[in-house]
Amino acid sequence: MNDTIGFIGAGNMGGAIISGLLADRKWAAKDIIVADSRAEALTVLDEKFPGIRTTGDNSEAASSDILVLAVKPQVYQSVIHAIREDISPETIIVTIAAGLTLAAVADWFGESRKIVRTMPNTPALVSEGMTAISPGPGVKDEEIQAVKRIFDAVGRTVVLPESQMDAYTSLAGSSPAFVFMFLESLADGAVREGIPRKMAYEIAAQALLGSAKLMLETGRHPGELKDMVCSPGGTTIEAVATLEASGFRSALIEAVSDCTARAKELGKA
Ligand SMILES: NC(=O)c1ccc[n+]([C@@H]2O[C@H](COP(=O)([O-])OP(=O)(O)OC[C@H]3O[C@@H](n4cnc5c(N)ncnc54)[C@H](OP(=O)(O)O)[C@@H]3O)[C@@H](O)[C@H]2O)c1
Repeated sequence: MNDTIGFIGAGNMGGAIISGLLADRKWAAKDIIVADSRAEALTVLDEKFPGIRTTGDNSEAASSDILVLAVKPQVYQSVIHAIREDISPETIIVTIAAGLTLAAVADWFGESRKIVRTMPNTPALVSEGMTAISPGPGVKDEEIQAVKRIFDAVGRTVVLPESQMDAYTSLAGSSPAFVFMFLESLADGAVREGIPRKMAYEIAAQALLGSAKLMLETGRHPGELKDMVCSPGGTTIEAVATLEASGFRSALIEAVSDCTARAKELGKA
């Protein structure tokens, strides 16, 4: 039997997780209760997922076994203050807000709660997300597994100590932006060589998707997979040499470090 899951906030991310949970009947619709202040968001869910429970009252969702807070970070504090009396000490509270620490959330609850900080990324919107999970004090292993099952429905998951969340944020949260810059540049290069733009985007995106899948599914080292494409005296090694001369690798390494440093700075603010 599944736990009941409550959501407060049914926007982009809340909606994506709910869709993932209900795809292939991973979760029963009757075990999901969603609260949102926007009536239209709830109407859309009611139509799309018959059987799901929707409400305009956050306290109703708060009575679930697992409660996902899927509102914008700036609304967390007021949402928590309004529902904290309605939550059982056994409820697992899941946060998905970028930059919000376990300590800050615990402080808003004001008393000991089981809190799990998570960080999904935008590819979760197409069920190819990467989510890091950092459990707070007092969260048991089986409770971590229950949270993991939720995010496994929209991609892959890793469990990380909160101290690594800032580096994770650059590697998975921000990296889609770096990847889109890479894809745009690759397509620009192809357009320069005469390939129509729309086709160039499709080709570049599929090459990236296929390469990522090849690495994940074979478990082979990325250097080995790169070497497989570089025949002696061939075309690819020419491009590899150009990328090395242009500082491609060091630009990415520095980008991840700068992004992590900024996440740390914002976390302290
Ligand atoms: N989108 C992403 O890719 C992504 C990635 C990682 C993490 N996150 C995190 O996910 C969280 C949600 O982001 P999102 O992009 O899904 O936001 P969103 O699309 O704005 O969804 C939030 C929903 O909550 C509703 N809401 C606002 N105040 C509320 C309240 N007091 N009680 C109940 N519902 C309320 C909003 O209604 P209104 O529109 O009327 O305000 C909206 O329908 C954020 O904390 C964000 O940091 C998002």
